[in-house]
Amino acid sequence: MIPSFGLENKVVLVTGGSRGIGAAIVSLLLDLGSKVAYTYRSHDDSQIGTMAIPADVTNAAAMAVVTQQVEEKLGPIYGIVANAGITRDNFFPKLTPADWDAVVDTNLKGVYNTLIPIIPKMYKRRSGSVVCMSSISGERGNIGQTNYAASKAAIIGFTKSLAQEAARYEVRVNAIAPGFIKTDMLNPVPEKVKQQILSEIPLSRFGKPEEVAWSIAFLLSPIASSYITGSVLRVNGGHYT
Ligand SMILES: NC(=O)c1ccc[n+]([C@@H]2O[C@H](COP(=O)([O-])OP(=O)(O)OC[C@H]3O[C@@H](n4cnc5c(N)ncnc54)[C@H](O)[C@@H]3O)[C@@H](O)[C@H]2O)c1
Repeated sequence: MIPSFGLENKVVLVTGGSRGIGAAIVSLLLDLGSKVAYTYRSHDDSQIGTMAIPADVTNAAAMAVVTQQVEEKLGPIYGIVANAGITRDNFFPKLTPADWDAVVDTNLKGVYNTLIPIIPKMYKRRSGSVVCMSSISGERGNIGQTNYAASKAAIIGFTKSLAQEAARYEVRVNAIAPGFIKTDMLNPVPEKVKQQILSEIPLSRFGKPEEVAWSIAFLLSPIASSYITGSVLRVNGGHYT
């Protein structure tokens, strides 16, 4: 039997839940008995029992409507997984303003847009758990990812600051920093580079989306992680410690 982590009947919103890590967390939360809503930008692989909402995290007005729709249909939001993210990799001299803006708008401003309509409600209810998606690239940097690494490093500062503000309202805020996980995001990485990365990972393999999902469920849990806030949980096979 799968432990429920105290997440049964809890309403959780996952951004970018249509594929990859987001889809794995949606699927796990459903197994744990949560009421799950997720947003997506361009894919609709809706899963049974979920509320799938097309909404771009870069659109502040759309994200405010998402909060309203989810709370009307499922009830007060307990958990948020700010997962939606993109890469636009290039060496810095070749990085266009559009590549910079797209990544920062999605990965950083998108988290602001997601959380700003919900956090005041959580404060009032004195209940909530937020998980923001960072990355190993934000912790140790990565060639070709100045824009992405900057956005993911910023998420760590954001998480630690919001955690300190939110603690007095009994709302917890944590971040996940995955290493290299087998999703569509890894597709553009050349095979030679993948082999190089693999040689640096002590567990000698890429991570699975489900392995990140379990760590997110742990951080969402009002039982398993009730004394954890402002932390960054690394799920990276020992790649960076
Ligand atoms: N895969 C990895 O190796 C890895 C490593 C570290 C961190 N991450 C982070 O994990 C998160 C999920 O990555 P993934 O590998 O599952 O990627 P993915 O490309 O498979 O999925 C990304 C999801 O985000 C959604 N999305 C993208 N832009 C959006 C927008 N503007 N509005 C709404 N939704 C949007 C997509 O629709 C999709 O559902 C991202 O934040 C990513 O940066 C991934």
